[in-house]
Amino acid sequence: MDRLADPAAARMAEAQPPKDDAPMVLELQSVDACYGKAQILFGISVQVRRGEVVAVIGANGAGKSTVLNTVMGRLAPSAGTVTLEGRSIAGQATEAIIAAGVACVPQRRRIFPTLTVRENLEVGGYVRRKDKAGFARRLDEVHALFPVLASKATLMGGVLSGGEQQMLAIGRGLMSDPRLLLLDEPSMGISPKLTTEMFRDIRRIADGGRTVMLVEQNAYAALAVADRGYVLENGRVALAGAAAELIRDDYVRQTYLGA
Ligand SMILES: Nc1ncnc2c1ncn2[C@@H]1O[C@H](COP(=O)(O)OP(=O)(O)O)[C@@H](O)[C@H]1O
Ligand SMILES: [Mg+2]
Repeated sequence: MDRLADPAAARMAEAQPPKDDAPMVLELQSVDACYGKAQILFGISVQVRRGEVVAVIGANGAGKSTVLNTVMGRLAPSAGTVTLEGRSIAGQATEAIIAAGVACVPQRRRIFPTLTVRENLEVGGYVRRKDKAGFARRLDEVHALFPVLASKATLMGGVLSGGEQQMLAIGRGLMSDPRLLLLDEPSMGISPKLTTEMFRDIRRIADGGRTVMLVEQNAYAALAVADRGYVLENGRVALAGAAAELIRDDYVRQTYLGA
């Protein structure tokens, strides 16, 4: 099936007004990163502005998770700069970066299966535990986004379906009231239909005023809801632009969209 024959995704991408004037939330400039002696990222530059969904797409092994590890301080860049709202976070401890307002939903979700849904969300809010009113507000935000997390609040996280666990993982990230939400392959292990819904939910998170950067192999699903995209190949940014343009780009279509 030629998925691009379906214009819905392109329309959805086009529906996003440009946010070029919005304040910069995350900026990577010319970042190199290595695991030991193996250099994985080469001169990566990425910008994420407030209210945007930015999608970093690329094949397995392209370096997508390494970009997130670099932002989260699990890996110090060997060159270049990483700034969050104008302040350098490169080389800082992960705890400091979380406290500064970055939440990351990892690739394998890692919810707590023997805690209830509600307890999982409480764990996510721990970093802001002193703000009781904020906790209630964020719980409302998460429940409005994912009503199933309210109706299953007392069930163990481990009994949820894969899609529901992904909602819980994202909800847990939101409970920390992040300035920036990072998602590593939100489509992984989820059916195509649920993937489409999940990405619409991710769009709604940004439309509600939050800022999202996700890395994703499913280029089509990600670009369909993103404002802007970056194509990562062998640790380099091969292409960057408005998601609506990337989804129509011949090279992207042939390489990543199965056209
Ligand atoms: N801890 C590690 N040590 C050494 N090499 C790694 C490590 N993690 C990932 N790599 C390598 O880095 C490259 C990029 O990996 P990754 O960022 O996980 O890619 P992606 O998330 O795009 O699939 C791959 O070649 C992978 O084998
Ligand atoms: Mg990865």
